[in-house]
Amino acid sequence: MTYAPFPLGRPRRLRTRAGARDLVREARLAAEDLIQPYFVFEGEGEPVAIESMPGQFRWPESHIVQLARQAHEAGIRAIAIFPKIADEKKTIGGDEAWNPEGLVPRIIGAIKAEVPELLIMTDVALDPYSSMGQDGIVVDGRIDNDLTIAALIKQALCHAEAGADIVGPSDMMDGRVAAIREAFADNGHDDTLIMAYSAKYASAYYGPFRDALDSAPRGGTDKRTYQMDPGNSDEALMEVARDLEEGADIVMVKPGLPYLDIIRRCKETFSCPVAAYHVSGEYAMLKAAAANGWLDEWPVLMETLLSFRRAGADMILTYYAVEVAERLKQG
Ligand code: PBG
Repeated sequence: MTYAPFPLGRPRRLRTRAGARDLVREARLAAEDLIQPYFVFEGEGEPVAIESMPGQFRWPESHIVQLARQAHEAGIRAIAIFPKIADEKKTIGGDEAWNPEGLVPRIIGAIKAEVPELLIMTDVALDPYSSMGQDGIVVDGRIDNDLTIAALIKQALCHAEAGADIVGPSDMMDGRVAAIREAFADNGHDDTLIMAYSAKYASAYYGPFRDALDSAPRGGTDKRTYQMDPGNSDEALMEVARDLEEGADIVMVKPGLPYLDIIRRCKETFSCPVAAYHVSGEYAMLKAAAANGWLDEWPVLMETLLSFRRAGADMILTYYAVEVAERLKQG
């Protein structure tokens, strides 16, 4: 019996030899596609384990150059810095976010002095600095969009001046990319990249990240008033279109695995550089299943990261980045 209309075609023929499987593979994963996020706190001391993210730590700033060097040697091209700010420095307005002597600019300076080729990405949003754990400035129970933008401009300029290569506005305010792009143009930072968290969903998968930074919302408003509704897809395209028009160089979809369809639609519609963020909750789920012996961590991880690439992501932010890069190098 044959199967029309291609009676001689047999897809399994290409699967019978490992070499042939390699030849026809469409999506691949390499160290250079990965971005490693780091949680950092001020000063010295020992790294602090993050309970809901086994294997991840809050690092003292004194360790960061060593981590950067290790990432660079593993073939990683970019790292993302997430600061844990002491409670006494948090305010409603998040003013510590643009302190030129603050933790983030210090870290950028230290890494750039030692590992200048490694790209440094920073998060532009007020949550680590906000006494309410909100990405913006709360006025009368709601986030004031334009007041927040004025603060984000100062924060983004502070990072660019310190030498950040990429700023990542993760706040979801309307119009912030254009405002930052314009401020960069006016201040001699035309070459600083903007990776816009364009399709950032109001997700329960961010829980462990908020533990790591102690940045869970404490009143003010609900993040659903600025992050996207998980039921929406067309809206993601609108957000991406706007951010590109406003001067974003790379757009991001976040979280990753539950939003593969959004990655695909963004890539197909705009053919622009797309990043996927494999977020803290996705990391925690895999670690928990692996710790119980229910899933084989490495192959599940590789399959997951490959799925981002297959969906259309050019790059992936993942807490596993350096580990994957090192293992890929070993072959
Ligand atoms: C906040 C920010 C968040 C993440 C990155 N930047 C959390 C939030 O919006 O509450 C989440 C990353 C993760 O979960 O791994 N500006």
